[in-house]
Amino acid sequence: MSVTVIIGAQYGDEGKGKIVDMLSADADYVVRYNGGNNAGHTIVNEYGTLALHLIPSGIFYPQCKCIIGNGVVVDPESLLSEIEALRKLGIDVERRLKISTLAHLVMPWHIMRDQAQEKNRGAEKIGTTLRGIGPTITDKVSRSGLRVGDLLNKEYFTKRFRAAYEENTALLKALSSQNKVSWPEDLLAKYLRYAELLKPYIVNTQELLTDAINNDERIILEGAQGALLDIDFGTYPYVTSSATGSAAACQGSGIPPTKINKVIGVAKAYTTRVGEGPFPTEMNKETAKSIRETGKEYGATTGRPRRCGWLNIASLIEVIRINGISEIALTKLDVLSRHDPLPIGVSGDSPSESVSYINLPGWQKELKGITNFADLPPEAQNYVQFIEKQTGIKITYVSTGPGRDETIKIPY
Ligand code: IMP
Repeated sequence: MSVTVIIGAQYGDEGKGKIVDMLSADADYVVRYNGGNNAGHTIVNEYGTLALHLIPSGIFYPQCKCIIGNGVVVDPESLLSEIEALRKLGIDVERRLKISTLAHLVMPWHIMRDQAQEKNRGAEKIGTTLRGIGPTITDKVSRSGLRVGDLLNKEYFTKRFRAAYEENTALLKALSSQNKVSWPEDLLAKYLRYAELLKPYIVNTQELLTDAINNDERIILEGAQGALLDIDFGTYPYVTSSATGSAAACQGSGIPPTKINKVIGVAKAYTTRVGEGPFPTEMNKETAKSIRETGKEYGATTGRPRRCGWLNIASLIEVIRINGISEIALTKLDVLSRHDPLPIGVSGDSPSESVSYINLPGWQKELKGITNFADLPPEAQNYVQFIEKQTGIKITYVSTGPGRDETIKIPY
């Protein structure tokens, strides 16, 4: 049996999708355990370039079953369009995808509340993805949310829907929202149609995963967002609304902590962030522009240009500690080619501290597609080894391009 957790070790967008996609070749289950369609995992494989938002990246492998766990919030419209896109590619989604009865539903009023709250925050806005994730989780915690499993019982769903509609109408008014749900009966009918379409996928996923563990199957728990966007340990209030780290993998899937074998932290060779909030190692505009163009640093969900910064070892060390990261996958090393020197932030992981840097020598050679560590220029090898030395954690994958095969695997 092996249970591997894969988390983002920075502000999200570290390239987790590629790593999960690669490791899914040897997995029986891939489970998404947090977030919702605020996430966007860009995957480049034989089907082309695809952005997945809710469906785990393992869906491309015929042996791999995919689960949307209880910790995820599900916008049915977004999920159904993803299912449809995959189906068109000839992927047997219905047989391989299961959704937890306990996952919460993103409703249109959640999206409206997200928009109204962001507008009301003015200059203090968080820069959310406006997908309604925060308000959905707010309602989950306030016990007024609707769950995926509720869709299976028309009468119960209708009752909960009507109560939630009343509550949200008042909330939207209080928020001076420009939007309101005008035709609740139409909306209810729409959700009852979604219920029919999603029925084949909705099951008790904890039970499935318990059986998988008992049968010695290989499980990957796929995190969304990144450790620095965690509701507790991130840069609050500029964070997402859920826990994003390795502990959330248990709560969001129903797999107990004693079954976790390893935690892979995915870190970019530099750092990016979308949305507002502190970013101690942010680059100057000109360098950021160059990295953004080379690294195609635009949000997979919203298309927003990502802010770019240097690697911050101090915050990486903190993230490793909190999440028990046992190995690192370092992504996008190729993007740093031709930047010299390469500053790495070595102190000042908190927004109020100023950062001090160590400058490492850059390299002039293109790294794209290199698959052997020994073929990296000495400066690039040094960059990787410096991170290992500072963090005390082994780097087991170095990504040198978006494709599955553009990866250096370094045995533990
Ligand atoms: P929310 O998750 O939409 O509420 O947004 C809160 C913050 O998390 C914003 O700064 C978003 O840009 C950021 N965020 C949410 N999901 C992702 C992601 O998958 N990648 C990167 N940033 C994200």
